[in-house]
Amino acid sequence: MVREEIRVKGSRIVVGEGVAAELGAMLPEGVRAIVLTDENCAAAMGAEMGGRERIVIAGGEENKTLATVEKIYRGLIELGADRGTWLVGWGGGIVTDVAGFVAATYMRGMAGCGYVASSLLAQVDASVGGKCGANVEGYKNMAGVFSQPDFVLCDTALLATLPEREFRAGVAEMIKAGVIGDVELFEMLEAHGEEELRAEGELLVQAVVAAVRLKARIVEADEREAGERRKLNLGHTVGHAVEKLSRRWNHGEAVAIGMAEVCRESARRGMLEVGARDRIIGALERYGLPTEHDLTPEAITEAVRRDKKAESGCLRWVVPVAVGEVIVTSWD
Ligand SMILES: NC(=O)c1ccc[n+]([C@@H]2O[C@H](COP(=O)([O-])OP(=O)(O)OC[C@H]3O[C@@H](n4cnc5c(N)ncnc54)[C@H](O)[C@@H]3O)[C@@H](O)[C@H]2O)c1
Ligand SMILES: [Zn+2]
Repeated sequence: MVREEIRVKGSRIVVGEGVAAELGAMLPEGVRAIVLTDENCAAAMGAEMGGRERIVIAGGEENKTLATVEKIYRGLIELGADRGTWLVGWGGGIVTDVAGFVAATYMRGMAGCGYVASSLLAQVDASVGGKCGANVEGYKNMAGVFSQPDFVLCDTALLATLPEREFRAGVAEMIKAGVIGDVELFEMLEAHGEEELRAEGELLVQAVVAAVRLKARIVEADEREAGERRKLNLGHTVGHAVEKLSRRWNHGEAVAIGMAEVCRESARRGMLEVGARDRIIGALERYGLPTEHDLTPEAITEAVRRDKKAESGCLRWVVPVAVGEVIVTSWD
């Protein structure tokens, strides 16, 4: 059985089939640990979570809010949690983003925080790199902190109950990792479809490991997004706009659309070969991911502008110039 451990910024990321069972061993002896999860995960993985104390939130991007954060603070107070308590976020990227934020801020910071990443997207992306927080007024991650979890368990066996659509959303972020800087990962994804990836345990572990390594390498070089880390935003400029404006697509799907759009624009400007553009879009389509949206260019431009207002008006695009290579540029 493949089991890999990757370290990034002091956090231990363990990837493999069945690694959720290592949760007890990851926690310091005798420590109190409270599990934070959402309703779907509690229903799907209640048995794996064992008898640990639990706070359950309503799922969905619309609940990734400060109101939910406050509910969790209240839950912790009711349970009598103190600064010595650990918080374990068990779920997809929404749970892990919110758990990291709560663990970093409850009583000015809890003793420790770990994640059991149970969606593919959380395993390959959200739970790696230390960004956490919540949305405000529908704008993504407007409140948040950088805070590395002590550990992340990426148990690919837990993905068995993950709905197909959510699985594909995770693949979108894996394809993104491949396009940014891992041709081998891209080719592996390109060569296999969803069914094979889900059925072949080792293949899935290897793909998750490759995506985590790529992200870890970038985060290690640049934790706070001054340069290299921006590359991870490939597809996210338009993606976030699409995610906000349309209720049709989840995060990974919106990123697939954003990636396809930036590939088309890059090819139009002669920066990306048409063949490479078609390979990237073809890989997304192979997994049933959307590659086009039905929003007006004006609506997208306005949402992009607002989404990026925190960056003092300077909008930077992550542009693929080949499979496995992107550049960061301020277009137009
Ligand atoms: N912090 C970061 O660097 C970072 C990176 C990428 C994405 N994100 C954030 O992650 C979020 C998206 O994450 P997501 O796609 O995992 O969404 P999610 O947390 O909503 O999970 C997707 C759905 O799958 C369910 N689920 C999760 N694991 C399951 C399992 N094993 N079995 C059955 N159901 C399961 C969840 O309950 C949810 O309904 C977004 O808010 C995005 O902004 C953060
Ligand atoms: Zn993303």
